[in-house]
Amino acid sequence: MKDAQPKTIYLKDYQEPDYWIDNTELSFDLGEEITVVQSKLSLRLNENKTHNNLPPLVLDGTDQVLKQVLVDGKTIEPGQYKLTDETLALPVTQKTFIVEVTTEIKPQENTSLEGLYKSNGMFCTQCEAEGFRKITYYLDRPDVMAKFKTTIIADPKQYPVMLSNGNDIAKGEREDGKQWVTWEDPFKKPSYLFALVAGDLSNITDKYTTCSGREITLKIFTEHKNIDKCDHAMTSLKKSMKWDEDVYGREYDLDIFMIVAVDHFNMGAMENKGLNIFNSSCVLAKPDTATDNAYQRIEAIVGHEYFHNWSGNRVTCRDWFQLSLKEGFTVFRDAEFSADMNSRPVKRIEDANFLRTAQFAEDAGPTAHPIRPDSYIEISNFYTLTVYEKGAEVVRMIHNIVGKEGFRKGSDLYFERHDGQAVTTEEFVKAMEDANQVDLIQFRRWYSQAGTPVITVTDQYDNNNQQYQLTVKQHCPATPGQTDKKPFHIPVAIGLLDPEGHDIALNNAGDTTQVLDVTEQQQTFTFKNIAQQPLPSLLRGFSAPVKVKYPYSRDQLLFLASHDSDGFNRWEAGQQLAVDILEELAEKARKNQSLTLDDRLIQAYRAVLQDEQLDPAVAAKMLALPSEGYLAEQAETIYPLAIHQAREFAKQQLAEALSEDWLAVYQRLQSDKAYQPTAADIAERSLKNTCLSYLSQLGEQQLALLEKQYQTATNMTDKYAALSCLVNAPAEPAKPIAKTALADFYQRWQEDVQVMEQWLAVQANCSLPGAFEHILSLQEHEAFDITNPNKIRSLIGQFAMNNAVHFHQETGVGYKLLADYVIKLNIVNPQIASRLLTPLTRWKRYGEPHQAQMKAELVRIRKQPELSKDVYEIVEKSLK
Ligand code: PHE
Ligand code: ZN
Repeated sequence: MKDAQPKTIYLKDYQEPDYWIDNTELSFDLGEEITVVQSKLSLRLNENKTHNNLPPLVLDGTDQVLKQVLVDGKTIEPGQYKLTDETLALPVTQKTFIVEVTTEIKPQENTSLEGLYKSNGMFCTQCEAEGFRKITYYLDRPDVMAKFKTTIIADPKQYPVMLSNGNDIAKGEREDGKQWVTWEDPFKKPSYLFALVAGDLSNITDKYTTCSGREITLKIFTEHKNIDKCDHAMTSLKKSMKWDEDVYGREYDLDIFMIVAVDHFNMGAMENKGLNIFNSSCVLAKPDTATDNAYQRIEAIVGHEYFHNWSGNRVTCRDWFQLSLKEGFTVFRDAEFSADMNSRPVKRIEDANFLRTAQFAEDAGPTAHPIRPDSYIEISNFYTLTVYEKGAEVVRMIHNIVGKEGFRKGSDLYFERHDGQAVTTEEFVKAMEDANQVDLIQFRRWYSQAGTPVITVTDQYDNNNQQYQLTVKQHCPATPGQTDKKPFHIPVAIGLLDPEGHDIALNNAGDTTQVLDVTEQQQTFTFKNIAQQPLPSLLRGFSAPVKVKYPYSRDQLLFLASHDSDGFNRWEAGQQLAVDILEELAEKARKNQSLTLDDRLIQAYRAVLQDEQLDPAVAAKMLALPSEGYLAEQAETIYPLAIHQAREFAKQQLAEALSEDWLAVYQRLQSDKAYQPTAADIAERSLKNTCLSYLSQLGEQQLALLEKQYQTATNMTDKYAALSCLVNAPAEPAKPIAKTALADFYQRWQEDVQVMEQWLAVQANCSLPGAFEHILSLQEHEAFDITNPNKIRSLIGQFAMNNAVHFHQETGVGYKLLADYVIKLNIVNPQIASRLLTPLTRWKRYGEPHQAQMKAELVRIRKQPELSKDVYEIVEKSLK
């Protein structure tokens, strides 16, 4: 917050550090007023670099009071060191030496939730990316890896549980009654993987026997009141451990693995070595308080953090530009894990849909960057959908290019070569190449070029020669700092359908899906022995993170939606049909013309509703209209109110035209089975509740149904679905019922933090008239808390991201609300402030009056004194 113009850091400037740290010994004397941190670092000159003299040792450090510095046991006086707001520079006289530093910090005043802080009376840490420097002076960069030994000292009455990385090797009591415990982590690690927890916690314990027969102790810690909410995370953890052994041959390495749930957390969870710290919403669940969504999120995130033990911890990043090395790869791993545990096609649909809605928007906006960025001001701003989600798609493309077995050979080689090292994305790609003798030279452009490539496909059928040709052109729009893009290597999986809707064999082996390696700006692919004009099925399984343009007619889309053998593309064809229809409706809505729904959409929906063979999970996806966010991303110029009107109209029409089918399926899926978060049960609930949401559009007739489901539901999934339908039901008589249900829900669950997040979110998402005033009033509600990121996300985040009608009100009050929070949080929690800003940064894509008003709010934020680096970087880039 100090510099007026924060510094930009460039990848091209990367240099190894002057010194290495081999051993790090820490002691924390945790206090209510002051926490004293003592460090003892064994340093060694980096002999890889040439040095004229011994350079000074420049340690990173902020927000702490320096009390004492010793080098090799001798006190360094203030005149001998140089202290700035961000660094401590010490003179060096030996190639190896010991530095001891004592500092004081105040975790109880740390609202940034970075470094050491307090959450509900418990001490906890978050060090990635650069939080460790708020704890003590250090070489806080991922290529400096040390063995850590950590002693925690605290009052045993308040903090009976004291945890850090590795194994606890000693404990005792001091004369003053304080207790101490020492933890030792035998694996070298960068500071960002350090963790400490101290509090009054309960835990559940379990065991896992690894593939080599070692017994691992597993523990999940939480506040006492939540101890009955840990079982699902434990089950997920054991499944993750098994899966990583089976699929990647990776065994866990320490004797203990711990997870701690905390309520105040900036992100989802953190993979600290042996001591993962989780946002409580990503770990705690029981059937009557957590939805299916939460159950699946927990399984995925527990897996994700666990998988980091190899892809992130054992092999880590050389510098933060390489973040996608661990995140892209680990997201790919967790996606495959979820696909194996649940429905593979549904997981693919969800991921592709999310990427295309949110990451494509990022790639088309002012903060677009390659999955390996080449510069940043604040690294926290680069924990993005691009680095994570697109990064995972890039890994998936490699997986598809080298095949499943080839990928395993590549990952084995990568882990073998680089275990214990801090490396770059180059090492990952190289291992894949070397293990498979493939050439990924051109493919590497996915790491350095930003933007979403667009492929335009045209075709030609030659009846005389029985030949079919597909011509593919690729183009990638300019992104900030990158005007000319070189062609990407894009694996485009395709199939051809004959007029009956059957797949045509594309080679002698009878394959019906073929991957076209698109590498040039324009390329033509010829298929021989094609007896009749086929219909192409393009980008099957979403084989690359690109947009496809092909002039399908609505009838052709309808045909593909019922015949394509590729599950993903069947869904996709239905979506494209809906998008085409909704775009036309939105255009009419904008011009105040009357609306009618193309009957083909009703036909497509009817076919799905009446197909009892269809996997209910896929059916639920096929019956969901493209979101307003996705439609916005597709639009040339976004008119959010017209999009909303069009989509509501279509929903209403579908509800009415198919009312009997919705009801029939809804009734068929009634069940009194006890809640289980299995894929099959989740699928049925999701189809049932999709039906309910259409039924909730049908005026008064179906209110009784909603009310009944709300009252009788025995699990949170069904209860929350009914609540959400009630809150959004347009019929006037629904209002008092919704009000009563919201009050009842609050009454029942007000003590439950996770449920209260849901309660805020359902109200923040309501698009009905009058909801905005209600959202404003919720800011004053007890259930809301500006210092808790989950609450901010539930109320303000949901409002700005998912409630377009109220956020984009023509008076601009929605934008103002968001900007006010950005300004407040800029001081309290800069990371959250900067993330919250995202919707405003997209101003250039909107029509007037939105554009001007959004920009004005950005300008207002820009003018605030003491902008954090986080907010400064995003606002500045957005206003360029
Ligand atoms: N590394 C964490 C993950 O993806 C995310 C994270 C980043 C958490 C920064 C906190 C702070 O798994
Ligand atoms: Zn991660």
